[in-house]
Amino acid sequence: MKKKIKIGIIFGGKSAEHEVSLQSAKNVFDAIDKEKYEPVLLAIDKDGRWLLNNSSEFLLNSGNPKLIKLNSKTSQSVALVPQGNGEISNLDTHQSDSSIDVAFPILHGPFGEDGTIQGLLKLANIPFVGASVLGSAVGMDKDVMKRLLRDAGIPIASFLAVKENEIPTYEEVVKKLGLPFFVKPANMGSSVGVSNVGEKMDFDKAIREGFKYDRKVLIEENIKGREIECSVLGNDDPVASVPGEVISSHDFYSYEAKYIDEHGAALEIPAKLSDEITKKVQALAVKTFKTLACEGLGRVDFFLKENGDVLVNEINTIPGFTSISMYPKLWEASGISYAELIDRLIQLALERFEKEQKLKTSYDTEDK
Ligand SMILES: Nc1ncnc2c1ncn2[C@@H]1O[C@H](COP(=O)(O)OP(=O)(O)O)[C@@H](O)[C@H]1O
Ligand SMILES: [Mg+2]
Repeated sequence: MKKKIKIGIIFGGKSAEHEVSLQSAKNVFDAIDKEKYEPVLLAIDKDGRWLLNNSSEFLLNSGNPKLIKLNSKTSQSVALVPQGNGEISNLDTHQSDSSIDVAFPILHGPFGEDGTIQGLLKLANIPFVGASVLGSAVGMDKDVMKRLLRDAGIPIASFLAVKENEIPTYEEVVKKLGLPFFVKPANMGSSVGVSNVGEKMDFDKAIREGFKYDRKVLIEENIKGREIECSVLGNDDPVASVPGEVISSHDFYSYEAKYIDEHGAALEIPAKLSDEITKKVQALAVKTFKTLACEGLGRVDFFLKENGDVLVNEINTIPGFTSISMYPKLWEASGISYAELIDRLIQLALERFEKEQKLKTSYDTEDK
């Protein structure tokens, strides 16, 4: 019998999106082809500790998205060994308890989607799903991301990126960007720290809120339009899914609309769009993915204005991945099931790793 490939599902994380990640990991674990793969569950708790456990004991309240949490009591504290080729060391016994062949990080936001875990996995010489260090870091920092998109001629909203010592006055912002405008941390996700400012009295609070989460804050022109999202899959030749639409019943697609209010947002899949706009969105999604050095997967989010203009808002390099999340749902509507999608992502990770292993790591003059 062919040896099963051990997939390290790395989930949880020191992040505001910890619980979303638990749900995604549970869904991936349930759906993964167990004839071909052996899933190994590696959780990162809210303090950043790495834990190993078996699937039946890992999650408490796993059926309830509001109460789901890690069961840290029965878990073992572990660490990845640098250059250990997937070895997982028990921090109490110092024994190698387990090992993985490929990692599937399902972590959202800082310490997961931003290149940090990807750097660790590179040092540990483990193939992994998704963008590498550069694509992850660039995709997380909205300021650098938007400058690269602008440089590639991709339409985006006008914005200012500011540090704490260079905050403009409300009047200066209104003059440059008009009213209302958005304020958001440069490195965050799930709409955490995002505010819509419509009058002067809201400005200071919005800026303070943004700086709670990052040392750099974006102030951005408000775009009035529909919110369209498109999934991308692949390494060097990525492809785009059918686009979907998020219809939010809140002032904007806030944290509450995303996760708290059951009726906060509806997903329309596929989005009701003309063929021309669909093609435009798909082409821009692939161009954005390539421009930002992404690999594996990414969900590109857009604003569609009434006049037909399409603007890129952002990319998410590890988008929500529960079986009812937009990223897999868009692939399902495009003919790729959830289980098949997981399989393809793992294959893409292995393909990239194989190519990287062939690269020389020393310079030999005789090879010339
Ligand atoms: N410039 C903007 N114009 C209109 N709405 C915006 C703008 N920026 C953000 N929003 C609203 O806030 C939500 C979250 O902002 P986003 O930039 O996507 O950050 P996050 O990474 O937290 O998802 C968006 O989905 C949208 O509803
Ligand atoms: Mg967003």
